[in-house]
Amino acid sequence: MTTLFDSIKVGALTLPNRMVMAPLTRGRAESDGTPTEIMVEYYRQRATAGLIISEATSISPFGVGWVNAPTIFKPEDITNWQTVTDAVHQAGGRIFLQLWHMGRVSHPDFLNGQQPVGPSAIAAIGDAHTPLGKKPYVTPRELTVEEIHATVADYATATKNAREAGFDGVEIHGANGYLIDEFLRDSANQRNDEYGGTIQNRVRFMLEVVEAVVSAWSADRVGIRISPVNPYNDMSDSDPIGLFTYAAEQLNKFQLAYLHVLEGLPGSAMAGPEPRVTPHIRRTYNGILMVNGGYNQELGAEALENNEADLIAYGTLFIANPDLVERFRKGTSLNTPDSHTFYTPGEKGYIDYPALTAVA
Ligand SMILES: Cc1cc2nc3c(=O)[nH]c(=O)nc-3n(C[C@H](O)[C@H](O)[C@H](O)COP(=O)(O)O)c2cc1C
Repeated sequence: MTTLFDSIKVGALTLPNRMVMAPLTRGRAESDGTPTEIMVEYYRQRATAGLIISEATSISPFGVGWVNAPTIFKPEDITNWQTVTDAVHQAGGRIFLQLWHMGRVSHPDFLNGQQPVGPSAIAAIGDAHTPLGKKPYVTPRELTVEEIHATVADYATATKNAREAGFDGVEIHGANGYLIDEFLRDSANQRNDEYGGTIQNRVRFMLEVVEAVVSAWSADRVGIRISPVNPYNDMSDSDPIGLFTYAAEQLNKFQLAYLHVLEGLPGSAMAGPEPRVTPHIRRTYNGILMVNGGYNQELGAEALENNEADLIAYGTLFIANPDLVERFRKGTSLNTPDSHTFYTPGEKGYIDYPALTAVA
């Protein structure tokens, strides 16, 4: 019987357990995206996770759009992230960088007044949180085919930077209404060229990014995250099962380190609609499957036992419990995440959640 505490080979790595720290934007970088000292301590504290996936990190100046989120395109980003990866490795951990382009949900305030870009000129309903306050999302400019190719190349460059910065791999952020997801789902993609229309066409951009990232490093150092039914950022699709089953089938050919699916469990705060898409993906996808969205210890253990997944990613629980693995192992109580400090600057709610040894 597989448990959360069993080791597993994931691409080029062997993880000591199956508990992954989900990618979590925390807004603690400098305003220009430079990683900071407290980020070093935050990730070091969580090094006992089987794998850490970093917060979403912008691959290009046009991919930015979140206050104090980090970047991986400036030369100094490489040296600054290196202090994070060194600290995690010295503490015995492993860390992937999440590659991020925000697409249409960026805002001119982040882009020197320029319009954000997307697959189609369709604005998301909602507000961007810009350095100048909350502002409604604007209508993006539709990317040309030439610009699509240039953006794919940006993913490859960012991957090389992540490798140089000492990361163990990269996770392509294909979830949550950002650029790749905007191409995938038909509420945001209404192109009528080879990147829009049919499912095959809407998956094309994602596959080109995967191809470029794999070529820039190695398939066993690359994972990808998708979120078939997450409505966040005003997203929806007319046939999520058809779309994401096809996407999973196409991903088989790359032999990636893993496929990561965010689909909230029924009854959780992140619950998605029924029928669930993940069981279809499990049947179609041949490689390592990571699931996320509303799991606790019991539900994670159950999913592994029932062979619904190979890895469980925990988000909010890792925010509040740097030593989540030890707490699960010992069956001790958990700290409660404080959502008021999820994105606020400074140490509070970031590096001050106590570990068990500190409590003792
Ligand atoms: C504060 C916060 C920041 C997040 N940032 C990211 C992110 O950078 N990239 C991403 O793919 N998902 C992000 N998510 C989603 C989480 O990775 C995860 O899917 C979500 O918390 C559900 O998992 P959980 O029920 O274990 O918390 C974020 C969620 C929260 C609460």
